[in-house]
Amino acid sequence: MRLLFAGDPHAQFRHIIDSAHQADAVVLLGDMEPTRPLHEELAPLLERKVPVWFIHGNHDADSDELWMRVWGSELAEQNIHGRVIELADGTRLAGLGGVFREAVWYPDPAAARGGEPAFRSREAHAKATPRQDRWGGGPHRRHWGTIYPSEVDHLADLRADILVTHEAGGYHPNGFSILDTLAQQLGVMVTVHGHHHDALNSSARWQAQGFKSFGVGLRGLSMLDTTDWTWSIVRPGELDQARAGRSM
Ligand SMILES: [Fe+2]
Repeated sequence: MRLLFAGDPHAQFRHIIDSAHQADAVVLLGDMEPTRPLHEELAPLLERKVPVWFIHGNHDADSDELWMRVWGSELAEQNIHGRVIELADGTRLAGLGGVFREAVWYPDPAAARGGEPAFRSREAHAKATPRQDRWGGGPHRRHWGTIYPSEVDHLADLRADILVTHEAGGYHPNGFSILDTLAQQLGVMVTVHGHHHDALNSSARWQAQGFKSFGVGLRGLSMLDTTDWTWSIVRPGELDQARAGRSM
């Protein structure tokens, strides 16, 4: 199976629609920020019956309008945040959307509370949020784009072949090693992330990690073949070249 991974689209979808004929399914890595409901943006794919899956990014919860276009879209059920889905060939895809935020949980010993969470779950955070500040039965709208420990814990009990996250894993200068631990617990072969608008080469880390890790840059597209886990760049991210020189 050929999976097309789309790095942060930030309101542009034409390149995804134009490249999807090469793929058996499309996976969006968050920060879609659609200017109309997500199912309308991707209507040509849906008409061609291309399976579409996604995770949300932090920016998808930046406004009430954006929230409605993503979580209120007819594609909302295709959001794989906090769960594992099985693709047509049996490949299991795990998803973790959003970002770590100190107000909830920033898993770094140098962060507030020594990296301990303020809230373990979305439900606990909602309960502690004044009623008028809640959104959609949860905490403040902004925190629909925040990661909670209970969501990571839930995934850690599952098994998968691929983990897609918005945040990066430990190889990345701004990444989180807890996502490497999660990938190991899930037993995945490959991790893919967005958010950072780069696609740094992490291959020197793969053996020690036990899985291949990839970033997909700003509006970049990459293809993963699930028969042999080969990865190819279909469309480089718009900032990939400028950022390739950064040290890891
Ligand atoms: Fe992001």
